[in-house]
Amino acid sequence: MEKQNNNAEKTLICVVGARPNFMKIAPIIKQLKNSGGGIRPYLVHTGQHYDQTMKDTFFEQLGIPEPDQDLGVGSGSHAVQTANVMLRFEPVLDEVKPFAVLVVGDVNSTIACGLVAVKKQIPVIHVEAGLRSFDRAMPEEINRILTDQLSDLLFTTERDAATNLIKEGIDPGRIHFAGNVMIDTLLANCAQATPFRTTLERYQVNLAIEDKGFALLTLHRPSNVDDAATLSRLIQVIVKIGNRLPVIFPVHPRTQQKIRDAGLFDELAANNVIVLPPVAYLEILGLMQSARFVLTDSGGLQEETTALGVPCVTLRENTERPITISEGTNTIVGTDPDQIMACVDDILLGGGKAGRVPEYWDGHAAQRIVKTLEQYFFG
Ligand code: UD1
Repeated sequence: MEKQNNNAEKTLICVVGARPNFMKIAPIIKQLKNSGGGIRPYLVHTGQHYDQTMKDTFFEQLGIPEPDQDLGVGSGSHAVQTANVMLRFEPVLDEVKPFAVLVVGDVNSTIACGLVAVKKQIPVIHVEAGLRSFDRAMPEEINRILTDQLSDLLFTTERDAATNLIKEGIDPGRIHFAGNVMIDTLLANCAQATPFRTTLERYQVNLAIEDKGFALLTLHRPSNVDDAATLSRLIQVIVKIGNRLPVIFPVHPRTQQKIRDAGLFDELAANNVIVLPPVAYLEILGLMQSARFVLTDSGGLQEETTALGVPCVTLRENTERPITISEGTNTIVGTDPDQIMACVDDILLGGGKAGRVPEYWDGHAAQRIVKTLEQYFFG
C-alpha cells in the first residue's frame, strides 16, 4: 500500500461496541496519545452495549475518553444490529476521512464497521486476529473469520493464531504477533481492583465468605442460555456447586431474562448462589483475584484467569483461545454435569491447573501495535 505523507491527516477511527471491546481499546488509545507518533484516535462507540453497568462504568474505570460519536444502535437480531451499525457508521467515515479503521475482538460491531470501511477502500486493522473455535454455530466465529479476511493488518494474541490465518489464505506479511491488549488492561488495573468484600457489601450480601472460599460464575453464550433445557441443566449443576462452596454470579442481561423466564432465580438463591447485577471492571477483577476458581463461558475470562493464575472451568465444548489450555489454567468441560462436577472436585481437592503466563501477555501489547502502525502507515 502507498505510504502516507507525514503531514497528511493522521486520524485513526477506533471502534468499540460491546463490553469486552472496552478493555481492549483502552490501552491502544492511551498508547496512541502517549507515543508521540502523531496518530490521532477518533473513538466511535456503536452503542451495541448501552446500560450503565455494561458501558459507562467501564469507560470511567478504564479512563477511556468519551466517544467522539455514539451511534446508539442498541439491541436487535444479528441482522438488525449489524445492519444498523453499518448504516450509521458509513456517514462517520465520509465525515472523518480516517487513514484507517481499527476494530477489536469479534462482536457484531467489529465485522459491521470493518465491512463498511473495506468497501470504501479504507484499510482495516484487526486486533485479536486469528482466534478460531472452529464452531460456526457461534456468531463470534463468523465475525472473526470475515473480519480477518477483510483486514489489511492483523494483530494476534498467541502464535498459533497466525497458523489459522495462513491456512485461510492470509499473507503472512500482514500478520503481527503483538500480545494481548486485554492483559495490558488487567495488569494496569490489578492494584486498583475492588476487594471482593467491598463488592459484596455494595450489593448487601450478608454472608461470611473467605478469600479463596468462593467460586465466580459468568454465563451469557446463546448456546448455553437461550435453550431452556441446557440452561436448566447448567443451573442444576451450579446448585450442586453452591452446596460445596458459595458461588458469586454477576448476571449478564441476556442471561437474566432467560433465568427469569424459566423461574430459576429462587432455586439459585436457596442454594448458596449469590446473584448480582453485571458488575464493573474493577469489581470483576477483584472477584477473579479472590475466587477459588472461575466457571465461565466468556472468552475474556478464560484469558484473564490464565494471566492471574486462577483455575478456570470453561462451560463450552471448545475454545478459540487454546493457549489458555496448553499453557494456562483453563479446562474445557462443556455442559455435561458429570464432567463439570469432576473438574470442580479436582480443583477443590487438588488445587487445579497451575499454568504459566503466555508469551507477550506482559502489559506491552498496545506499545507493539502502535509502533507497527506508525511504521506501516507513516514510516
Ligand atoms: C455480545 C457479543 C459477545 C460478547 C458479549 C459480552 C456479539 C455477537 N456478541 O453478546 O461476543 O461476549 O457481548 O457481553 O456481538 N442488553 C442490555 N443492555 C446492554 C446490552 C445488552 O440489556 O447494554 C440485553 C439486550 O436485551 C440484548 C441482550 O442483552 O438483547 C444481548 O445483547 P447483545 O449485544 O445482542 O449480545 P450479547 O449477548 O451481550
